[in-house]
Amino acid sequence: MLTAESALKVKSGSGAYLQLEDGRRILDCISSWWVTLHGHAEASIAEAIFEQAGKLEQVIFAGFTHDPAEELAEAIVEALPGKLSHLFFSDNGSTSVEVALKMAYQYWQNLGQSRSKFIAFEGGYHGDTVGAMSIGRGSPFWNKFAPLLFSIDQIPYPSTYDGDLSAEKKENDALKALSQLLAQNPNAYAAICIEPLVQGAAGMRMCRTEFLKKLAKLAAEHSILLIYDEVMTGFGRTGAIFASCKSESEPDIICLSKGISGGFLPLSVTVCADFIYESFLSENNDKTFYHGHSYTANPIACAAANASWRLLNKNADRFQNMEAIHRKLAEEELQTQKLLTNKRYCGTIFAAEVQNREADSYFNSIAPLLKKRFLEKGFLIRPLGNTVYLMPPYCVTENDLRSAYKAINEVINEVFRQASISI
Ligand SMILES: Cc1ncc(COP(=O)(O)O)c(C=O)c1O
Repeated sequence: MLTAESALKVKSGSGAYLQLEDGRRILDCISSWWVTLHGHAEASIAEAIFEQAGKLEQVIFAGFTHDPAEELAEAIVEALPGKLSHLFFSDNGSTSVEVALKMAYQYWQNLGQSRSKFIAFEGGYHGDTVGAMSIGRGSPFWNKFAPLLFSIDQIPYPSTYDGDLSAEKKENDALKALSQLLAQNPNAYAAICIEPLVQGAAGMRMCRTEFLKKLAKLAAEHSILLIYDEVMTGFGRTGAIFASCKSESEPDIICLSKGISGGFLPLSVTVCADFIYESFLSENNDKTFYHGHSYTANPIACAAANASWRLLNKNADRFQNMEAIHRKLAEEELQTQKLLTNKRYCGTIFAAEVQNREADSYFNSIAPLLKKRFLEKGFLIRPLGNTVYLMPPYCVTENDLRSAYKAINEVINEVFRQASISI
């Protein structure tokens, strides 16, 4: 707080815009930390929340159920790849991951095997709880907590971009590292966890669908559970409803949150395959999955999620078509911007690196300069280090998105001119 700029007071939101108390309007180009799908204060979700609050605001979700939770569970399970059939509710992305890890760990115990190790990808971010931090190990955020975290093995994420000639080599290297670990430690790993198609917090690092198919095959061959952390990539972000659908690859467990309620209320789900669920079915309490939260499957949050789901299906063309619009606008507005490299696209997401004398990193000193200038120009664009990215709500117009691309070009030129930074 000592070094932070003072926070901007937001009065209201509408569509892709935020209205500040000081009269300024800001185009939200990052969907307010990747949650706002259809736009701010979207009327049909607001109405669904109002209606549900007047009917049933909350009920204990142990021994009780309700329509909003059942409707949501059925819709999500129907849309996910075949074997993902049982759904566990919690409150945010971190807890959905924590649930996945605990489920995977206990699954093997239920089978009488003690597989206690996990594999994760370099650069992965999975949330702030202790299990999520453990598999996100390597993030400089967690240095202070290192002694608290359980040990994991990491393999490289085949981070690639448009025109990357070494994409296949990177994928093969990652798969080779995985094969070696599996061969060296047979029957030791409970699960491997990946952010499929896009590693968000690491800087929108993208991998190809081919890689996920090969990864899923390798995991199945070695009977290690595959967890997809789709907390960010779910609900249309990658241009398909889920990254698993886009890549035609089936994880055994999937974590969903962020966009689930259209950005209105905290909610998450962890969905697992039938065979995992069945391993818990027993008269023996020892096999019970002892995990639950006070607000599990809150009816109002589920009602918001159902309204958001209806909009997603009604306006699917918006997230399906956005990648083509990103590509066109980047071509038209950024082609001459030589300081931007490694351009990449995945559905509703565009990302690239701004090159300066420093290495690519979250702590690259250009980040705060860019962020400040974007805000002054009326854009909420929040670089991850020297990675600039756009991930707007699906309602954004092409003209508004074009203005964001123009701003990226102008701001990079301005910042470099002012700071006299040369590459
Ligand atoms: C891929 C991924 N997993 C998990 C999380 C944690 O979600 P939350 O911040 O809702 O706890 C995030 C948050 O950014 C994320 O991007």
